[in-house]
Amino acid sequence: MPAKPYQVAVIGGDGIGPEVVAAALQLLQATGVAFDFRAYPAGDDCLAATGVALPAETLQGALAADAVLFGAAGNTAADVILRLRAELGTFVNLRPAKAYAGVDCLRPATDMMIVRENTECIYAGHENVLTPEVTIATRVITVAASERIARFALDWAGRHGRSKVTAVHKANVLRKSDGLFLACCRRVAPEYPALKYEEALVDSVAMRMVLDPTQFQVIVTTNLFGDILSDLAAGLIGGLGLCPSANLGPAHALFEPVHGSAPDIAGQGLANPTAAILCGAMLLRHLGEERAAARVEKAMEQCLASRETTADLGGKLSTSEAAQAVIKRLG
Ligand code: NAI
Ligand code: MG
Repeated sequence: MPAKPYQVAVIGGDGIGPEVVAAALQLLQATGVAFDFRAYPAGDDCLAATGVALPAETLQGALAADAVLFGAAGNTAADVILRLRAELGTFVNLRPAKAYAGVDCLRPATDMMIVRENTECIYAGHENVLTPEVTIATRVITVAASERIARFALDWAGRHGRSKVTAVHKANVLRKSDGLFLACCRRVAPEYPALKYEEALVDSVAMRMVLDPTQFQVIVTTNLFGDILSDLAAGLIGGLGLCPSANLGPAHALFEPVHGSAPDIAGQGLANPTAAILCGAMLLRHLGEERAAARVEKAMEQCLASRETTADLGGKLSTSEAAQAVIKRLG
């Protein structure tokens, strides 16, 4: 009997989102794993057409699926992706940054995992205008979310052969909020005696990542710092076109490139599909399709190594040609 297909909700979104998601879907299909893809609208174009950026039907589709593949939204990103992450209860944003052979980059030895807390911090949405000239934003840090993310990061490190986890913070200034985050990390770390646990201030981590990213294996941090450091890491390895991410929670999983809708290159076949294709690999792994995930990653790495890539990496291929090149190498 053929395997029951995995239900995947596909939200292409705006700009290059649908272009790179189409490439990832071609790869997923080419693995031979049985999928039932259902496409849903969201984003700027959806807002213009329907009056809402994230329709109820899209949210229902995401909640009902085994996994969600998301491209990018434009100006409505906060209304779409932040809401999806919240509704799906995905408390982790897992952002790998790994340099690839064949890709010219600043720091070819980079290979780190950034584990970003995904539900609170300054992204909790508590912003207020006190007077026309004074605004405030509230930073939310809780024991529950901090212990949960620390435990996830340490557990992930142990399961993936890493020996060190760095908790990144700014507790010297944010004494109460990051003080609490750090206290939670410290409390959880001894549960993993085989791992080295260290702490570092976010500003110095930014500098050290540029000078020598091999100092870091797994970084666990709060929402805003994780957002910024993962783009910094993307810069070290050759750009946003290469960085996938996974939003994971107890019941749901959503996979999305770190990049946005890139309106400057949208609609021209210039978008690098690598990040989205690597999201596809992460999605496969999440579903337990380890062999298919490894095949996609290997084929992708071979294309990068032989410079069968898009123009941002110095190649000559369009988005869909780059996807086809990966499919050809799928062993
Ligand atoms: P961006 O990631 O869209 O683009 C930054 C730069 O990187 C641009 O020069 C773009 O051409 C380039 N780039 C990005 N992805 C690429 C790819 N796959 N291949 C080749 N080049 C690529 O970030 P930006 O410009 O700050 O934001 C543009 C829009 O995207 C904004 O409306 C923003 O709100 C939205 N955004 C959405 C996100 C999401 O949906 N999760 C995340 C970040 C931004
Ligand atoms: Mg970002």
